[in-house]
Amino acid sequence: MTDLTTTYLGLTLRSPLVASAGPVTGDPALWERIEASGAGAIVLPSLFEEEIEHDAFAVGFAADQGTDQFGEALSYLPELDAPDVGPARYLALVEQARDRLGIPVIASLNGTSPGGWVRYAKHLADAGAHAIELNLYDVVVDPTITSADVERRYVELVEEVRAEISVPLAVKLSPWFTALGNMAVQLERAGADGLVLFNRLYQPDIDLESLDVVPRLQLSTSAESRLPLHWIANLYGAVGCSLAASSGVHDGGDALKLLLAGADVVMTTSALLRHGPEHLRTIERFIRDWMIEREYDSVSELRGSVSRRNVAEPQVYERANYYQVIHSWVPGTHR
Ligand SMILES: Cc1cc2nc3c(=O)[nH]c(=O)nc-3n(C[C@H](O)[C@H](O)[C@H](O)COP(=O)(O)O)c2cc1C
Repeated sequence: MTDLTTTYLGLTLRSPLVASAGPVTGDPALWERIEASGAGAIVLPSLFEEEIEHDAFAVGFAADQGTDQFGEALSYLPELDAPDVGPARYLALVEQARDRLGIPVIASLNGTSPGGWVRYAKHLADAGAHAIELNLYDVVVDPTITSADVERRYVELVEEVRAEISVPLAVKLSPWFTALGNMAVQLERAGADGLVLFNRLYQPDIDLESLDVVPRLQLSTSAESRLPLHWIANLYGAVGCSLAASSGVHDGGDALKLLLAGADVVMTTSALLRHGPEHLRTIERFIRDWMIEREYDSVSELRGSVSRRNVAEPQVYERANYYQVIHSWVPGTHR
């Protein structure tokens, strides 16, 4: 019997396949199907810094001013006691997931600046989250801000969240750092128990008819898993914390490659949106069949075996490979 058990953020998971944050994990009607399809854990969609700040502003504003005086202004804010106020509804979601599911429930906080809102990390843990995933989704457009400023801010934020909670903390990152390895080490020192590589940044598009800038949500493709693969292979053994792969995991082959590169878990959102939660079973079956064929008994045996530190020629993961790749182009053979 192949053993798919893995350890992620210090938690023992029955499988390295994790349903990552998105509409599928945000729909309570699908939770049992996700669990029955073999997921090792589930990451709920994010609670955003903006939602928490907005809620705090609404509460503070109402307390300060009295609701009758600024009735019109307050009509733009959510009803304070309404169950669908962002943070309150989110806490209820975490509690419900924790009650209904046997697999670990990871709650997600999404924000970029240190501040009072990080206290919510504790509320999420108190609501029953087994771990917190902090998503540092950020778009730094101010040209006076340096990369050192940004990195300092992220480290401070991770330290603040860490100080709030005793459950494990994962940090979800973008791939766009000049020295990602150093950032990873800094985040680990700041208290991250794991890194989720990577956020997929959503780039806007331009409509050539209307000249409007349009947000375009496109699901990922398998090709996108090569970016987390590259960095997980490089970080495996270079950091002590867990590594989760996110982006472009659509089939068992994608998942296996990321495990071979060194991922502790492999996350998927787009594939579950396309095919439904049961797609996890198809991915798992592929992994099991592949392992049986090659006589691997456990995921831990294969994990990291094709990482940078374990391949005969580590330069395949470095700049040297770039020279080889561009000189491998033969007219008519590549599309
Ligand atoms: C519709 C949609 C909603 C998402 N919502 C969240 C979210 O709330 N928080 C988060 O951290 N990531 C969110 N993600 C990102 C996914 O968790 C994942 O990191 C990303 O889609 C890349 O993985 P994939 O290639 O498997 O889709 C969302 C993705 C999609 C497509």
